[in-house]
Amino acid sequence: MKNINSKKIISMIVTILIAFSLSACSQGKQSVAVSKIDSIKEKGKIVIGTSADYPPYEFHKSIQGKDTIVGFDIEIAKEVAKDLGVKLEIKDMKFDGLLAALETGNIDFVAAGMTPTEDRKKNVNFSKIYYTAIQCVVIRTEDEGRIKSLEDLKNKKIGVQKGAVQEQLAKEQLSTSEIKPLGKVSDLILSLNTKKVDAVIVELPVAKAYVNQNSSLTLSKVQLKTKEEGSAVAVKKGNEDLVGSINTTITKLIKDKTIDKLVEDANKGAEY
Ligand code: ARG
Repeated sequence: MKNINSKKIISMIVTILIAFSLSACSQGKQSVAVSKIDSIKEKGKIVIGTSADYPPYEFHKSIQGKDTIVGFDIEIAKEVAKDLGVKLEIKDMKFDGLLAALETGNIDFVAAGMTPTEDRKKNVNFSKIYYTAIQCVVIRTEDEGRIKSLEDLKNKKIGVQKGAVQEQLAKEQLSTSEIKPLGKVSDLILSLNTKKVDAVIVELPVAKAYVNQNSSLTLSKVQLKTKEEGSAVAVKKGNEDLVGSINTTITKLIKDKTIDKLVEDANKGAEY
């Protein structure tokens, strides 16, 4: 009798345990299936990852004595957050760490003047393109007469942002130059001023912003063989609902010409 009872109790416990673990499993599955937007809304915030060294896209600015990250990517991100009805949290990091941060869930999306290349598309999803620009080469004003063509960059030190399309471009088109990849564009500009590099490749609006702040620097006449490159927002693969919502926001901003105005405003305020 005693034996039967304890057997019964054990089998009951086992059944309960199995039921528990099964429900835990299915809950686990459910939470994977929960939409990204739902989980963002639940948290009440969306986290943007950016590399705030790229005026007028994103840069640091002292506003009423407080270090603030501004730029037209940030304004677009604010609109994305507003349309979702949540707060925006900004995480500033090196450009080459952004996609890994997306993968680990440290950030929800990337807005950093990022070009939707085929290589990147293998790992992340991109929104539609919201802005396009061409690549150009910044040099020291004193070298203006000496550096006018790709040829003149032979055996020179070329600064590029690590992990950016400019790094690849330099490797392809300036194979006889010494390529120096650095994490932050602000450090590239410093290296140019201190003669650690002789030229820096960035997108035109960024080049203009830095040149405007540095009388010792200028835009070179060097023509790189590139077409216009677009910028798009990146999200983790699988977050289709979030890309959809971001695309709706971007379409609205393009249609009512808000993006043009945001770029113009950011250009006016661009400093680093
Ligand atoms: N468009 C280039 C790329 O996607 C450079 C972007 C750099 N952005 C930045 N915030 N520093 O690789």
